[in-house]
Amino acid sequence: MERFQYHNPTKLLFGKGQLESLRTEIPRYGDRVLLLYGGGSIKANGLYEEVTALLADMQVTVVELSGVEPNPRLTTVQTGIDLVHEHQIDLILAVGGGSVIDCAKGIAAGAKYDGNPWDIVTRQVPVTDALPIGTVLTLAATGSEMNGGAVITNWEAQDKRSFGSPLTYPKFSVLDPTYTLSVPANQTVYGIVDIMSHVFEQYFHASENALLQERFGESILRTMMETAPRLVQNLNDFDARETMLLNGTFALNGTLSMGVKTDWATHMIEHAVSAVYDIPHGGGLAILFPEWLRYVGKTRPERIIQLGERVFGIDVNGKSDEVLVEETVQALQEFWTSIGAPSRLSDYEIDATHLELMAERAMVAEQIGQYVPLRQQDVSAILKNAL
Ligand code: NZQ
Ligand code: ZN
Repeated sequence: MERFQYHNPTKLLFGKGQLESLRTEIPRYGDRVLLLYGGGSIKANGLYEEVTALLADMQVTVVELSGVEPNPRLTTVQTGIDLVHEHQIDLILAVGGGSVIDCAKGIAAGAKYDGNPWDIVTRQVPVTDALPIGTVLTLAATGSEMNGGAVITNWEAQDKRSFGSPLTYPKFSVLDPTYTLSVPANQTVYGIVDIMSHVFEQYFHASENALLQERFGESILRTMMETAPRLVQNLNDFDARETMLLNGTFALNGTLSMGVKTDWATHMIEHAVSAVYDIPHGGGLAILFPEWLRYVGKTRPERIIQLGERVFGIDVNGKSDEVLVEETVQALQEFWTSIGAPSRLSDYEIDATHLELMAERAMVAEQIGQYVPLRQQDVSAILKNAL
């Protein structure tokens, strides 16, 4: 293991009825709230009514910013920053999925910076201060509810980048599975793929002796594989929603990355694809992860084989590494296809036209990834194999 510190300051408020906790949490930070949400799903499922009634009852001053896009945009972050300044906001309350929460993080950090928030997103300037954030999560997927990371798209520049800071962890996150019951089938599947992919990004680390972290990751993957088919059969299965929600949070709250150098190349490639084509993050990952595994499996098959044996139950006896990698990749691909995930870039009508642009955008450094570091030509090859 690498030397590490572990500190996750987010207070998790999990389970039915936890929205009431806002009554005790919000006053800790002030009484002027920016209520941030997306395109209207919270109005359709009744959560908006509940939150605004509760805030009104608390006599909190509320300023609303709605319409945060899936793949949230820099322009919306800027609008939020302007509202924070204009109304002297004390706390941002993000009610929605990862996009709304990430946007809140961009606003929280950007409001304390006297310049273009893109400087923060592209890590040209560090976060030195941030407004407090609270969240009410409505979609199990990103883990943003209990981490300090955020992904923001600069649509004009066709670029999607991520930043993170200890200062942008939500102070508290309400996770009531009830509010995830309305997530439609496609978004549910994207969430499943995203959660599993977060485990992979950390499972394929470049450190030694991380036995417990690997077993933690395998537990999440096994639990996902038991739960996901049940959930896609019945989107109203409360217990399955509850399991997914907790899995999603623990897949990316720092537990799996303790003491290991994690990979994240596939996320960087996916972010490049969704920066150019605006496709759903989980959909992109379902297409790219199997191809990444196939590609790096040629250089470093051992942990892919371990995954195949321990998570997919593949019999490893008497088979070559090459065969075992392929069997593992196929097992993963079959699982994702069976729950309705896409498998080729052509499913989103993406062809080779902008392949080099995407590969270039993915290269946030000279090499990306740790398990097997990739250069631009490797990324191009992976994208080509995924067409
Ligand atoms: O906008 P609304 O109307 O709310 O609808 C959303 C949106 O259309 C809908 N939705 C959310 N909760 C719902 C619901 N519909 C019905 N019922 C509900 N309860 O779902 C759609 C997608 O929402 P979004 O927030 O975009 O999804 P997700 O949570 O998957 O977030 C994706 C974004 O997070 C980034 C991705 O790149 C992408 O931009 N990521 C953030 C990470 C982080 N901060 O740690 C890590 C991830 O790897 C990821 O990159
Ligand atoms: Zn992700």
